[in-house]
Amino acid sequence: MFTSTDLSGDKPQQYAQLADQVRALLHGERDRVANAANLSALLYHALPDLNWAGFYFHDGVELVVGPFQGLPACVRIPLDKGVCGAAARSRQTQRVDDVDAFPGHIACDSASRSELVVPLLHDNRLVGVLDLDSPLPARFDVQDQEGLEAIARIYVESLT
Ligand code: SME
Repeated sequence: MFTSTDLSGDKPQQYAQLADQVRALLHGERDRVANAANLSALLYHALPDLNWAGFYFHDGVELVVGPFQGLPACVRIPLDKGVCGAAARSRQTQRVDDVDAFPGHIACDSASRSELVVPLLHDNRLVGVLDLDSPLPARFDVQDQEGLEAIARIYVESLT
């Protein structure tokens, strides 16, 4: 049984603790769907003020929704659309303080106000993206970005 432990200290310390939980959660399993499902659940419950946390996988052409927590979402996202497409195309994390000000933002859940999308790269190949949405404007700062980029790397490494 998984027992969650509360995160404590400042934000970098909290992300270091969360990263340890992620390593423990994914240890010994390489299946990308299984690990994405468990990681979505862990992030959704461990981090405050999220209304969506999950994965889109690159099928070679576009992004296809994977495991997530939150309301049902758009199934397919072309790489030239949305915050997720921008992260996949540019291979750079997209941290959006106000989704309504982002050209082409795709509103899967009208409650979303800010969003963080981290590209998942394995040996320079695009695996997909990790997407987090919040009902609060500017929910994600640079420390969230760094913490979640580190967690995304742990996920990608778990697949090898
Ligand atoms: N808002 C995203 C779409 C995915 S949902 O947020 C789950 C985007 O603009 O790419």
